[in-house]
Amino acid sequence: MEEIVLVGYGGHARSVADCIERQNKYRIVGYTDVEQRNSRYQYLGTDTVLKDWYEQGIKNAAVGIGYMGKGTLRERLYESLRAIGYELPVIADPSAVISDHVQIGEGTFIGKGAVVNAEARIGKMAIINSMALVEHDCIVEDYAHVAVSGILCGQVKVGKAAFIGANATILQCMEIPSKVTIPAGEVVRRNYRMEVN
Ligand SMILES: CC(C)(COP(=O)(O)OP(=O)(O)OC[C@H]1O[C@@H](n2cnc3c(N)ncnc32)[C@H](O)[C@@H]1OP(=O)(O)O)[C@@H](O)C(=O)NCCC(=O)NCCS
Repeated sequence: MEEIVLVGYGGHARSVADCIERQNKYRIVGYTDVEQRNSRYQYLGTDTVLKDWYEQGIKNAAVGIGYMGKGTLRERLYESLRAIGYELPVIADPSAVISDHVQIGEGTFIGKGAVVNAEARIGKMAIINSMALVEHDCIVEDYAHVAVSGILCGQVKVGKAAFIGANATILQCMEIPSKVTIPAGEVVRRNYRMEVN
């Protein structure tokens, strides 16, 4: 089994680690963080050790830091991990229902019970969290986060690093601009309509 290192061990990392174990493709060697956390995995040190672990043969990494509409930490981590050479596989829980006709970029996380329907396109390092629904033909750009139970009806476009709050519903064909936060529970009914072929 290939090995993988977890980068950052906050709350989101527990979900990511659980899905990795359930995927049964990678063995988690441990995690990096600014300090040791309450974790059942081995603490490897700060991110400065990542280069050494790569040189010792660990080629895969998963980012355990979530995104709630603030900062660009996931993007910076992605850039530094790629510069070292790490691969960032898609981490998708086996309970997620994912059409065979979708594109999903590297490092994207798809949580338990999420649905990604036909012809959806999800960029890199996105988070489609537990029970979220990404309907047919949606586009979710890089670093965007659809929080738990967020619903994107068909043909929605979510811009880069936008955050769709828990249980929010975005009606069909709406476009959420880059870096926008949609509050939890909000229903987005009016917005820019995108052209759909
Ligand atoms: C929208 C949000 C970002 C605002 O956070 P904030 O800037 O800290 O704002 P506050 O909590 O101080 O609330 C400001 C006002 O917005 C209202 N408000 C906050 N969240 C709201 C929501 N989801 N829906 C409707 N109104 C909301 C508050 O009642 C308050 O109103 P008031 O000024 O009349 O008292 C936050 O409430 C939210 O929804 N975050 C998403 C959380 C989430 O989805 N987590 C999932 C993780 S997987």
